[in-house]
Amino acid sequence: MAIERTLSIIKPDATRRNLTGAINDRFEKRGLRIVAQKRIRLSPAQAERFYEVHAQRPFYRDLVAFMSSGPVVVQVLEGEDAVALNREIMGATDPAKAEAGSIRKDFAESIEANSVHGSDSPETAAQEVAFFFSAIEMCP
Ligand code: CMP
Repeated sequence: MAIERTLSIIKPDATRRNLTGAINDRFEKRGLRIVAQKRIRLSPAQAERFYEVHAQRPFYRDLVAFMSSGPVVVQVLEGEDAVALNREIMGATDPAKAEAGSIRKDFAESIEANSVHGSDSPETAAQEVAFFFSAIEMCP
């Protein structure tokens, strides 16, 4: 297994409920290292660009409005098999289908307000990390 980096976003529903620390604890307890992190407010245009791949999906406009509705914490997680491991820690997109003990099962409010985003492949991770961070901002 390779050491990978993946992009994680703690979404507005979670920052609003002060869950950043509780969510970061899940990552660190499973061996992922937070090598970069910042709390920002996405503009609607930035959220549109980040989720461009979903532009034709019926939930796109609502998703853009939600993601720009409050602060998010964007972060880079590093570790063995980080992309797949983070997806396991997050659980399924729909909290109703998420595994027991996963972040989305325990914290998500709905399929949209599902507390966290994580890259879905190493290729996507490289693009998503570069969307938010420069090399100098990441410190292993
Ligand atoms: P995320 O992993 O950030 O990727 C796309 C996001 O769209 C997803 O999490 C949800 O927040 C949101 N979303 C809203 N409705 C749906 C849906 N029906 N299927 C998938 N994603 C959805």
